[in-house]
Parts: sequence; C-alpha cells; structure tokens
Amino acid sequence: MQKVKKAILPVAGLGTRVLPATKVIPKEMLPVVDRPAIEYVVDEARAAGIEHIVFVTGRGKGAIEDHFDQAYELEENLQQKGKQQILDELQRNLPKAGSTSFVRQQAPLGLGHAVWCARDIIGDEPFAVLLPDVLIKAKTSCLAQMVEVYDKTGGNIIAVDEIPAEDVNKYGIIDPVSQDGDIYKMRAMIEKPDIGSAPSNLKITGRYILQPEIFGLLENQATGAGGEIQLTDAMATMMQDQEFYALKYQGVDFDCGNKLGYLRAIAHFALSNSELGNEARKVFEDALQENQ
Ligand code: UTP
Repeated sequence: MQKVKKAILPVAGLGTRVLPATKVIPKEMLPVVDRPAIEYVVDEARAAGIEHIVFVTGRGKGAIEDHFDQAYELEENLQQKGKQQILDELQRNLPKAGSTSFVRQQAPLGLGHAVWCARDIIGDEPFAVLLPDVLIKAKTSCLAQMVEVYDKTGGNIIAVDEIPAEDVNKYGIIDPVSQDGDIYKMRAMIEKPDIGSAPSNLKITGRYILQPEIFGLLENQATGAGGEIQLTDAMATMMQDQEFYALKYQGVDFDCGNKLGYLRAIAHFALSNSELGNEARKVFEDALQENQ
C-alpha cells in the first residue's frame, strides 16, 4: 500500500464570512496568538509525515507564498541585532527547499475544484487534504491519527467529531454502517440534515485522506450546493466503489472561517501557550470584569 506523503491545502477561497478582516489579508494568514493560522495546519501535516505540501492559491494570496519563503533581509537584521531565538524559530518553520508547490485556482469555483487543481502534482498516489481555516488542537496531530488508521485500513478516511444532536443541521454529517472503536465504516454523508432524522451526530471536520481516483470524478463533477464544485459530491460518488472510513479523532477543532470560531481558537491557543498562558488568563478575566 502506498504511503500518504503529499497534502493539499486549499487556500483560494474568498473568506467572505470573516470580512472585512479578509479584504486584503488572506484568512489563512490571520494570526492566532503569535502565528498565522496556516502555520498550525502545516505543522499538523508535517507531524503526520507529510513530505510535500501543495497550496492551492488564488488572487490576493501571495502573502502565503511569501510566508513560507526565506526572508533574507529580515533574517539578516535579526542576526545583526542578536535576536537569535526568533531567528531560530523562523528558520525552524521554513519548509525544506522543494517541499512545497503552489498552484493557482484561477477562480474560486469550490473546494472540489481547488483539490482538482492539484492533480498533476499529486499524481497517482493517496493524499491528504487539510482545510487551513480549521485548526485542530490535539496531543497527536489529527492527520497523524488518521495516517495511523490509514496504514491499517487503506481506502479513504475522513476526520469526524461528535457534536450535540441539536447542532447536526449546521454541518456535514456521516452515515455510518459499522463501528470499531473510534473508526466507522461509512455509506454516505448528508449535508445539514434535519434534527431528529440525522443518521449520526458525527460532523465532518476538514481533514481527509483520499485516493487519486477522486480527480477523475472531480473533472466531471457538476456544480452542487452554492453553485460550487463540491468535494463531498465527488466523495459520495466514490463511496459506491471504494471504502470510506471516518475517524473520531482525539482533539478539538476550531473553524476560523467564521468570526466566533476564530475568536474561540485565539482564546484556547492563548490559554495553552507556554509563554503567554498565565498572563492571557488574567487578560481574559480582566476583560470579563471590565465589560460586565
Ligand atoms: P470555505 O467555504 O470555508 O472558504 O472553504 P471560503 O469560500 O473562503 O469561505 P466563505 O464562505 O467565503 O467565508 C474551505 C477551504 O477551501 C478553500 C478555502 O480557502 C478554505 O480554506 N477554498 C474554497 C478554495 O481554495 N477554493 C474555493 O473555490 C473554495
């Protein structure tokens, strides 16, 4: 069985739900405490053994490419000023030369279309997709948990998270046929089912391991919800021929694609930050008191 070595990070969306913050700054570059959101996701991929990351970018997303490039003048300046600690951190976060690719999605036609844009670089091997506006806080990287399962099951794997039954009508929900611990075999996915008729309370969470046959399906995929080419529609078709599993991963996810989710991410990552945690707690407590 081929290992999962490549990951796609689609970053070409317009981020309209977090406007006006994203008018000029890509939403994936919005800071969560002291780093842009996308850095957490790149770290998650690396911790899962991913060797090559394909960013699917679009107009106005140049800052992402620059962020993962060497900043000579800045580094020279830090060196001269003896700011070694931050210099080391910048260098540690820099991907190895040749281990990233950037392809352009010329128009934001949907997540499925963005994934399809990476087909030539992925080639004929299994790959991961990580939605970079979803941050996952976990002891073991969520994608690493998925890769561990994949190495036993093969097929396709989707990360899921248990949510309260009254929230199922806000998310994509899986329809499981059997369960083995935290791993479910799936037969379908349903977008925003009615409360009471949902097949489960397991929400699809923005991490996928997929087989390359998905590209052939995406090529001919008709537009779906919102007039966009949807990844879930192509996955639903592929489910008729291939095994799909869902992993209830250990961790917590934050959807930074909406304002409240982004705020939650900042609060959680600030409180668990080794440098700022204690003071952040005080900041939040003071803010609560001052705004009663
Ligand atoms: P979202 O639907 O959350 O992102 O897609 P969006 O379109 O930027 O959000 P809103 O609704 O306008 O606020 C999930 C991920 O897929 C990427 C986005 O950048 C995001 O990381 N995406 C989405 C693309 O790369 N291309 C697309 O055409 C759509």
